[in-house]
Amino acid sequence: MKRYVVCGLSNRGLASFVLPLLDHGDTVAGVVDPDRARVESFNDSVLPEGHERLPWYAPDDFDRMVDELAPDTVIVASPDHTHAGYIVAALARDLDVISEKPMVTTAADAVRVLNAERDSKGSVLVTHNMRYIPRHRQIKRLIQDGRLGRITHVALDYHVDVRHGGSYFQRWNRVRALSGGLSVHKGCHHLDLVSWWIDAAPEQVFAYGALNYYGPGSPHRPRDAAGVPYTGADLYERDPYYRAQAGSGAFAFAEPGGVRTGLYGLAYEHQYPTDTYLYDDEIDIEDTYSALVRYDSGASLAYSLDFSSPWEGYRVLISGTHGQIESRHGRTPDGTPLPGSDTFTFSPLFGEPETIEVIVREGGHEGADPLQRSDLFGEPAPESLRDNLLADARQGALAVATGEAIWRSAVEARPIDIAELLAQS
Ligand SMILES: NC(=O)c1ccc[n+]([C@@H]2O[C@H](COP(=O)([O-])OP(=O)(O)OC[C@H]3O[C@@H](n4cnc5c(N)ncnc54)[C@H](O)[C@@H]3O)[C@@H](O)[C@H]2O)c1
Repeated sequence: MKRYVVCGLSNRGLASFVLPLLDHGDTVAGVVDPDRARVESFNDSVLPEGHERLPWYAPDDFDRMVDELAPDTVIVASPDHTHAGYIVAALARDLDVISEKPMVTTAADAVRVLNAERDSKGSVLVTHNMRYIPRHRQIKRLIQDGRLGRITHVALDYHVDVRHGGSYFQRWNRVRALSGGLSVHKGCHHLDLVSWWIDAAPEQVFAYGALNYYGPGSPHRPRDAAGVPYTGADLYERDPYYRAQAGSGAFAFAEPGGVRTGLYGLAYEHQYPTDTYLYDDEIDIEDTYSALVRYDSGASLAYSLDFSSPWEGYRVLISGTHGQIESRHGRTPDGTPLPGSDTFTFSPLFGEPETIEVIVREGGHEGADPLQRSDLFGEPAPESLRDNLLADARQGALAVATGEAIWRSAVEARPIDIAELLAQS
C-alpha cells in the first residue's frame, strides 16, 4: 500500500485526493498547508470515522515531513505558483509526484521541473483530466483510427459562464504571479487536450487578450450617480455577478465581512483575510483571449477563451484531410444542458455524416475524475495506456508554455516560439 502526502488541503485536494484515497483504504500520511486551522477543522469535522487525524506541516517543513513520514508519492494540490517548489523538492528526494494542473505557472519553472526530473529517480504525472472525459476519448479514437486522415486544423471556442468565470476573479487565480493568468490556469486544460487529440506539439503562438469584464474598469461595476464605485453590501446588492452567483454552492461569494468558505464549509481565513471584489485593483490578468497555435505536425489551432459568458462549454471543429468532427457541448449557469450536447458529428469528406452518441459516466468532470484516480492510484488500465491518457512532465510543460505564450503574445504583440520560452532556465 502506497503512502501519500498532500501539499495543499484545497477544494481539489480534498475532493479529488484526500477523501477518495481514505475511502479506498490508502494512507494519507500528512498534509502541508500554511493554514493550520483549516487542516484542524478538516480533522475535527470532515475526516471520516476510523481514520487517524492528518498531521499538519507548514510549507517550510516539507523536508522534515518527508523525513518523518517517508511517503512514496507527493500529491501537489496547492495554488499553482507553489507547485514548482514542491515538485522540485519531492524529486530531489527521489519521490514520485502527482501534480494538479497546471504543472507550474511559467515556462521557466517547467524547465526547472524537467531538469529536476532528469536528475531524479522519481517522476511527475500531471492531472490533465480533460483527456479522461469519455466523449474526448471517443474523439481521440476516431482520430487515432485515421478516420479524419491527417489533422489540418482545429477551431476551439471555449466559454466559462458568469458564475464560474466570476469565481476566478474573486480568488487567488486573478493574480498572474499566483496562477500564471487564465491562459495558463484554465487554458492549459484545453491546450493539452488539443495536443493530445492530434498527437502534436505546439511550436508557435500569436494571440490577442484583454480584461474586458472584470477589474476596476468593468462595464458591470456598480457605481453611484456621481460615478463612484460602491463597496461592501451596497456593491453586492447591485452586482450582477454576485446576484448570478448567490446560492450557487461552491462558487458562492463570501458575504461582505464574512468568512470565505469552500467545500464542506471549511474556511479559508488564512488565504482570504479580507473581502475581495471582482473589481479590485490587484487583478492583473486577461479574461478574454483569441489565439492561433502552430504545431510540429503542420496542423494549426484557432482558440478562443472567455470568462464571462451566458453559457459554459465549447464548440470544437477538428478538420483532417479525410473528414471532420464537430461537437458543441455546454450548459447554462443553472446546469441545463445545451441542445446537442449529447451527440457529436463525424463527417467524412466524401460521404454521409454520422451522429455519434456521447458516452456519459458518473463522477466529477463528467466521469473523468474517478477514471483518472483509478489510473493514478492503481495500475493504469490497458485502454488508458493505449490512449496515452496519463500526462507526463513534458506534456505538462508544453501546456504551460503555450498558455504563457498566449498572454505574452497578447502583451508583447508578437508571435512567441514555444522553444524560446522553454530555453529559459
Ligand atoms: N484538474 C482540475 O479539474 C482542477 C479543478 C480545480 C482546481 N484544480 C487545481 O487544484 C489546485 C488547487 O485549487 P483549488 O481551487 O482547489 O484551491 P483552493 O483555493 O480551494 O485551496 C488552496 C489551498 O492551498 C493552501 N495553500 C496556500 N498556499 C499554500 C502553500 N504555499 N503550500 C501549500 N498549501 C497552500 C490554502 O491554504 C488552501 O487550503 C490548483 O492547482 C488548481 O489549478 C484542478
